[in-house]
Amino acid sequence: MANEASVLDAFKENQETTVIDTNKKMRVGIIGTGWIADAHIKSYKNQPDVEIVAGADLIPGKAEAFFKKHGVEGVKTNYKDHAEMLADKSLALDAVSICTYNRQHANCAIDALNAGIHVMLEKPFTVTLDEAVEVMRAEKKSGKVLSIGFQPRLDENMQMIKKIVESGELGQIYYIQTGGGRRRGIPTPFGTTFIEDKTAGLGALADIGCYSLDMVLNAIGYPKPLTVSGYKSAFFGTDPKYSNYVATGHPEYAALFGVDDFAAAFIRLEGGIVLDFRIAWAMNMDTPGDTIILGTKGGLRIPSTECWNGSVGGPMKIYHEVAGSQVVTEIPIIPMNGPSLFDRKIRTFLDACKNGTPAPVPSSQILYNQAILDAIAKSATIGKEVEVEIPEV
Ligand SMILES: NC(=O)c1ccc[n+]([C@@H]2O[C@H](COP(=O)([O-])OP(=O)(O)OC[C@H]3O[C@@H](n4cnc5c(N)ncnc54)[C@H](O)[C@@H]3O)[C@@H](O)[C@H]2O)c1
Repeated sequence: MANEASVLDAFKENQETTVIDTNKKMRVGIIGTGWIADAHIKSYKNQPDVEIVAGADLIPGKAEAFFKKHGVEGVKTNYKDHAEMLADKSLALDAVSICTYNRQHANCAIDALNAGIHVMLEKPFTVTLDEAVEVMRAEKKSGKVLSIGFQPRLDENMQMIKKIVESGELGQIYYIQTGGGRRRGIPTPFGTTFIEDKTAGLGALADIGCYSLDMVLNAIGYPKPLTVSGYKSAFFGTDPKYSNYVATGHPEYAALFGVDDFAAAFIRLEGGIVLDFRIAWAMNMDTPGDTIILGTKGGLRIPSTECWNGSVGGPMKIYHEVAGSQVVTEIPIIPMNGPSLFDRKIRTFLDACKNGTPAPVPSSQILYNQAILDAIAKSATIGKEVEVEIPEV
C-alpha cells in the first residue's frame, strides 16, 4: 500500500519544497506598531532567517509594548520616529515593514530607501500620485526592493482570475465592473487613523478600493489609465447618528471624519477597456454587485464578499459558448492550503531581497492603481472627467 501511495504521490501537482538559506539572517525593523503591524510581526516570527532588531512609533512607549506583547526580546525601540530609527547605523537593517497610516507612507518609504534598506510598504501605496512617483524615484536610486502590501494577490483564487484572462478563454476584454463594499463598516475599531484626513488622506476609495482595482488590473496586465470621471461622498461617516458610532459610544467621530465612505468612477484604460468602479465603507445596500469581466468570447463573474477585503467571495462563473450552446462553467473555490496570505507576503518579499529578484508586488504596477485613486479624488473634487497624467519616474 505504501508503495502504491508513493507512486501516486508522483502525480501530485505541487511537489516543490522551498529551502530557506538561514545562514544569511535578514535584520528587520518595523515602522508603525499599530493594528496591521501585528500581522507583520507574526509572519516575520514564522521565518527562520529573520531577526527583528528594531521598531519605532510616534507614540512614546507603543513600540516597546508591542514587542513585549509579541514576546520578541532584544529589540531597540527608543526612537521618537522612523527617521531616528533609520539613522541608527548600529542596527545594520536589511529591511523594514512600513505599517504607518497612509499619510506617512511616502516619507517613511523614501527615507528607508535613501538609507539603502529594502521596503515592504503597506497598502495603499501612498495618498497622492505625486507621492508615489517620489517613492519610486527613491526606489530607482537605491536599487533596493520595494514591495506594496497587496496580500490578496497571493491567494490562488485571485491568481486564477489572471490565469483565466491569460488563457484567452474570455477573448478580448472590453468592459469590467469592479468594487464592493459593506453596509455598515467604517473601520474605527482602533481609533480614528482611518477616518481623519491628517492620517488617512483617502477613505474607502484607497482602503478597499485599491484591492478592488488590483483584483482586475493585475489580471489584465495593468494597462495604463487614460481618463477618469469620479465621485465620492461621506454621508455616513459625517453623521453622529451613524449606527456604529452610536453602538460604540463615539458620536464625536463624525466631526473628525475627513475622508470618503463611498466612491464611484468610470475609467478608460489603454487597449479600449472601460472600468466601472464603486466602493463603500457604508451604504444602504448589501453589495454594489459582483466583479464582472466581459470579453468577446466569455464573461467572468467573481462573487463579492460581504466585508470586501479584496478576495473572491465564492465560486467564479464563466459564461461562454461551447459548440454553439450557451454554457456556464463554475470554477470551484480553491481551499487555502499552506502558509497564510500574510506569511506569503512577507516570505516573497524576503526572497526578493535575498535573491535580488523583482519585488513580488512591484511599484511599477501599483503606480497605475494609485494614479486611478488620485484621479478619482481629483475628478470628484472638480466635478468633471480628468485626464490621467503620470510623471516620469
Ligand atoms: N494589508 C492589510 O490587510 C491591511 C490591513 C489593515 C491596514 N492596512 C494598512 O496598514 C496601515 C496602518 O494601518 P493600522 O490600522 O495599523 O494603523 P494604526 O493607526 O493602528 O497604526 C499606525 C501606527 O503608525 C505610527 N506612525 C505613524 N507615522 C509614523 C512614523 N513616521 N514613525 C513611526 N511610527 C509612525 C502611528 O503612531 C500608529 O501607531 C494603513 O495604511 C492601512 O491601509 C493594511
